[in-house]
Amino acid sequence: MLSARQLDVMRGGRTIVAGADFHVDAGAALLIHGANGSGKSSLIATLAGLLPPAAGSVSWRGVDVREHPARFRHDLAWLGHADGFNGELTVDENLRFAALLGASMAYRSECDVLERAGVRPLLHTRLNRLSQGQRRRVALARLVLSARRLWLLDEPTDAIDESGARWFAECVDAHLHEGGTLVATTHRPLPVDAARTRHLHLERGAA
Ligand SMILES: Nc1ncnc2c1ncn2[C@@H]1O[C@H](COP(=O)(O)OP(=O)(O)OP(=O)(O)O)[C@@H](O)[C@H]1O
Ligand SMILES: [Mg+2]
Repeated sequence: MLSARQLDVMRGGRTIVAGADFHVDAGAALLIHGANGSGKSSLIATLAGLLPPAAGSVSWRGVDVREHPARFRHDLAWLGHADGFNGELTVDENLRFAALLGASMAYRSECDVLERAGVRPLLHTRLNRLSQGQRRRVALARLVLSARRLWLLDEPTDAIDESGARWFAECVDAHLHEGGTLVATTHRPLPVDAARTRHLHLERGAA
């Protein structure tokens, strides 16, 4: 479903990733590992169309994403280090706002996802009053509610505790079983269905 063909990624005039070539099917996950500075965030931002590839191409469902960017964005849920929340609004207001922007997202404040993510007690708290891990749980709940087919996630469980990471791994398994696709960078093991998961190790560190 998502393919990278001979992809080169450059940052600051240097080639960070050279010749990345992989395919991730519907119902499958690719986890990207590597040292700090090895290019994980740069590679996944390139897959998401946020950085132009220096060479090569990214295709989604067989079509180069540059040819049909709207179709790609319709299927894409992206989560980077910045979560895009408005710190002055409550969790509930932020999730409602996200639902207005994302047509496929069904948001109900009583929904089970919020309960299981542990964010229900926080619904009426302003975002800038949350801890880093609480804020990340809200971002992951928003992702799960988005019902997008392709999840591209940079360090999704950053700042999340063990119970939150287990909850999120269950969400990933459900996403894959429903035919979704995941590419994520991660420093910590993500306990998802091993039979559906492949790993890419970036070699080079920035030290
Ligand atoms: N905006 C930028 N301009 C120039 N160089 C950059 C920029 N962002 C990152 N780099 C460089 O690109 C390289 C890869 O950075 P990247 O953030 O992709 O690494 P990473 O594997 O995600 O690291 P981490 O594990 O710390 O998140 C690093 O050497 C970094 O210095
Ligand atoms: Mg990174």
